[in-house]
Amino acid sequence: MTPSDVKATLSFSDGSPKMDLPIYKGTVGPDVIDIRKLYAQTGKFTYDPGFLSTASCNSTITYIDGDKGELLYRGYPIEQLATQCDYLDTCYLLLNGDLPDATQRSDFHKLVINHTMVNEQMQFFLRGFRRDAHPMAVLTGLIGGLSAFYHDSTDINNPEHRHVAAIRLIAKMPTLVAMAYKYGIGQPYMYPKNDLSYSGNFLRMMFGTPCEEYVVNPVLERALDRIFILHADHEQNASTSTVRLCGSSGTNPFAAIAAGVACLWGPAHGGANEACLNMLEDIQRQGGVSKVGEFMEKVKDKNSGVKLMGFGHRVYKNYDPRAKLMQETCNEVLAELGLENDPLFKLAKELEKIALEDEYFVSRKLYPNVDFYSGIVQRAIGIPVNLFTGIFALARTVGWIAQLNEMISDPEYKIGRPRQLFVGAASRDVQPVGER
Ligand code: SDX
Repeated sequence: MTPSDVKATLSFSDGSPKMDLPIYKGTVGPDVIDIRKLYAQTGKFTYDPGFLSTASCNSTITYIDGDKGELLYRGYPIEQLATQCDYLDTCYLLLNGDLPDATQRSDFHKLVINHTMVNEQMQFFLRGFRRDAHPMAVLTGLIGGLSAFYHDSTDINNPEHRHVAAIRLIAKMPTLVAMAYKYGIGQPYMYPKNDLSYSGNFLRMMFGTPCEEYVVNPVLERALDRIFILHADHEQNASTSTVRLCGSSGTNPFAAIAAGVACLWGPAHGGANEACLNMLEDIQRQGGVSKVGEFMEKVKDKNSGVKLMGFGHRVYKNYDPRAKLMQETCNEVLAELGLENDPLFKLAKELEKIALEDEYFVSRKLYPNVDFYSGIVQRAIGIPVNLFTGIFALARTVGWIAQLNEMISDPEYKIGRPRQLFVGAASRDVQPVGER
C-alpha cells in the first residue's frame, strides 16, 4: 500500500478535535481512508452495514472495475484466461500469483488429479442425509466434515498445511459434488479417473455409470472448464468475506471453506443461478415470451418483492464480463447439443433485451451478472437446477482458499471483530415476574 500525499481531515461541527486520517493508494481502483485509529482517537465508530464503502483488506488477487465491467485475476483479464487457459492454470495463478510455466503446469495438474479420491468413509457420511436433501446442505456438511479426515493439514497457520489443504479441496470438490448428485438420484458413485482432465473427470463422475464406458464430449468439457474459470474468484464478495472472517479465528481451512459454501447458497449470491432458472421456467410455464412484459411490471413494483434474478450487482454498474462469456458458452453448448432453439435461452435473451432498454434497469445500472446465463448452459449439459450452486462452490473453492491464505500470510492480520451502533434498551433491572 502506498501512502498518499493527501490526508483526509475529519472535523466535527461541535468543535471536537479534528483528526487527520492517512489515505492509501492501490495499484488501481479507489483509494482507501485508514480509519484504524478512529475509535481510539475519537471514541466513534464508522457505520457501514452491507459494507458499501468499506475495504475489509488489501489484496493482490482479483480486481473488479464495476464501471468498466472489467475483471482481472492477478492482473490477467478474465476474457483472456477463459479463452487461453484452463481451470487448473487459473487455480495455479490464483494460488501462486502467476501462470505456470510448462513444467509447473504439468506438475500442478498431476498433483491435483492424483488427489481426487475421497476417504471411503465419506460414502457413509452421505447416508445420513435424506436422498432428497438439497445438495448445498449435503456439501456444507461434507466439506465441514473433511477436517475430520485430514488432521495432518488443519493448522491454518502452517504454510505447508495450507498448501496441502488447498490441493485436497480443489481436487476433491468435484468428487464430492458428483457424489452428492449420485446420492440424490440413487446411482452408484463413480471413482475419479486420473487419465481424464479435471473437467472431463467431473463430467464422468456426474453422468457416467459402471454399466458402460463414458465418453467425454470435448465441447461440454471445455464449456464446463470455462464455467469453472468464470466462477473462480471475485474479490471480497459475501462468501469470500465469510471465509476470511471465519478463517481469522484460526479455525482449520476446511471449516472456513464450509462457511463459504453455506453463505454462497443464498439466492442473493451464488443461489441466484438456481433462482434465475426457476424464474425462467415459471415465466415459460405461464406463457413464455408473451408474459415477459407482465413479469417485468412485477419486478418494477417494489411491493411485489419480485426481482429479476441474475440481474444487478453490488460492484458491476456495467455488463458483468462473465455474463458475456457465459452467453457465448451457452451458444456453443446449445449448438453442440442441437438446442439452438432452447425456449429458455430465447426467453432469457428477450428478458435481457427488454431490461437493457427499460428506464427502471437503466437508471439503476442493472445488467446481467454471472448467474443470468449460467443456469441455462448447466441445464443443457444435464446438471440439475438444485446443483447449480454446488458447481459455483466447486469453482469458487480456489478463490476462497487463495483469499484465506493471503489473509493468514499477512503478519498484520487480526481476528475480524466488527462493532455496532447499539439502539436497544439501556441498562434496566429485572422485575419480579408478578410485576412484569
Ligand atoms: C453473485 O458480490 C459478488 O461479487 C457476487 C458474485 C460473485 O462472483 O461472488 O458476483 C456472485 O452473487 C452475483 C449476484 C447474484 N444475485 C442475483 O442475481 C440476485 C438478484 N440481484 C439483486 O438481489 C441485487 O442486484 C444484488 C444483491 C446482486 C445487489 O444488491 P445491492 O448492491 O444491495 O443493490 P440494491 O439491492 O440496493 O439495488 C439497487 C436498486 C434497488 O432499487 P431501489 O431501492 O433503488 O428502488 O436496484 C434494485 C433494488 O431494488 N435491484 C433490482 C435488482 N437488483 C437490484 N430490481 C430488480 N431486480 C434485480 N435483480
